[in-house]
Amino acid sequence: MTHLSTTLVALCLLGVTSAAECIPKYSSSNGFQLVVNVTDRTKDTYTPPVHGSFVQLAHVGPPYNRAVASTSSGSVFYQNGTFSDIANQRIGILTDIGTPPFPAGVTYQFPEQQNQTDEKGKPIHVNGGASGGGTRLTRLYEPLSYLTILSDVVESTFVVCPNSTIPYYARTNYRFNVVNWVQATRDSTGSHIVIPEGCVAVNLVPQCATLNDLPENAFSSHDFAQEVRCYDDVAGMDWN
Ligand SMILES: *[C@@H]1O[C@H](CO)[C@@H](O)[C@H](O)[C@H]1NC(C)=O
Ligand SMILES: *[C@@H]1O[C@H](CO)[C@@H](O)[C@H](O)[C@H]1NC(C)=O
Ligand SMILES: *[C@@H]1O[C@H](CO)[C@@H](O)[C@H](O)[C@H]1NC(C)=O
Ligand SMILES: *[C@@H]1O[C@H](CO)[C@@H](O)[C@H](O)[C@H]1NC(C)=O
Repeated sequence: MTHLSTTLVALCLLGVTSAAECIPKYSSSNGFQLVVNVTDRTKDTYTPPVHGSFVQLAHVGPPYNRAVASTSSGSVFYQNGTFSDIANQRIGILTDIGTPPFPAGVTYQFPEQQNQTDEKGKPIHVNGGASGGGTRLTRLYEPLSYLTILSDVVESTFVVCPNSTIPYYARTNYRFNVVNWVQATRDSTGSHIVIPEGCVAVNLVPQCATLNDLPENAFSSHDFAQEVRCYDDVAGMDWN
């Protein structure tokens, strides 16, 4: 591992509610994998467990990919943008795909399916040509680092839905642990996030990884890959 390690010790602040808010030990790197972190482990009833798997891409026709969770391997992502992009929320979570490598951005806004929400939520895509569709890692003043969606939706969560079909593979038996996004719905009693049947609520948490050098003929660039807060071993973390 060659990533920069500015490891800080765990830090807990006693808030006014007297519940200690902990900032667990983290490192920093310009490359990271996104690890599936099941926040309520009792809901992770799957075999193998979803917790600790990695966001990986399932190709669904060039240059589009669905985000899926894999127990064996994960894509390396980077958060792209200048300081002014950060201030203006114009950053993208990118990975490199293809030969020569070109950038693909994590997005929930897939134009052809803009309004499509199946019973398991909105698909998360990682599309070539999308310079990042409104996602970023949480800011440093927030206690934990994880992927967030930039939208005016008040409440939402990522979910992983194991053993799901993807339309592109309709003529196969392939099943995927798809990564989707679920928004809260409102009714007279307030807003509620309803986790779809067969899915589990997760955070997508950056685990420090090495961002490889690009070949000369790459269409991608790592010039604006930011140093982000990431963890060395998300699945093995002591969050307290
Ligand atoms: C990861 O999940 C654990 C419970 O399994 C939780 O305590 C922790 O806060 C989560 N971390 C993030 C960054 O979501
Ligand atoms: C999505 O819904 C909005 C509002 O109903 C509509 O204006 C827009 O054309 C729809 N987009 C697509 C791609 O169908
Ligand atoms: C990455 O950020 C730089 C700086 O704002 C920008 O010029 C470039 O287009 C971004 N890359 C992608 C693929 O969006
Ligand atoms: C996955 O889904 C298929 C088709 O719906 C079903 O036959 C199979 O039992 C499921 N497997 C698991 C492990 O849930």
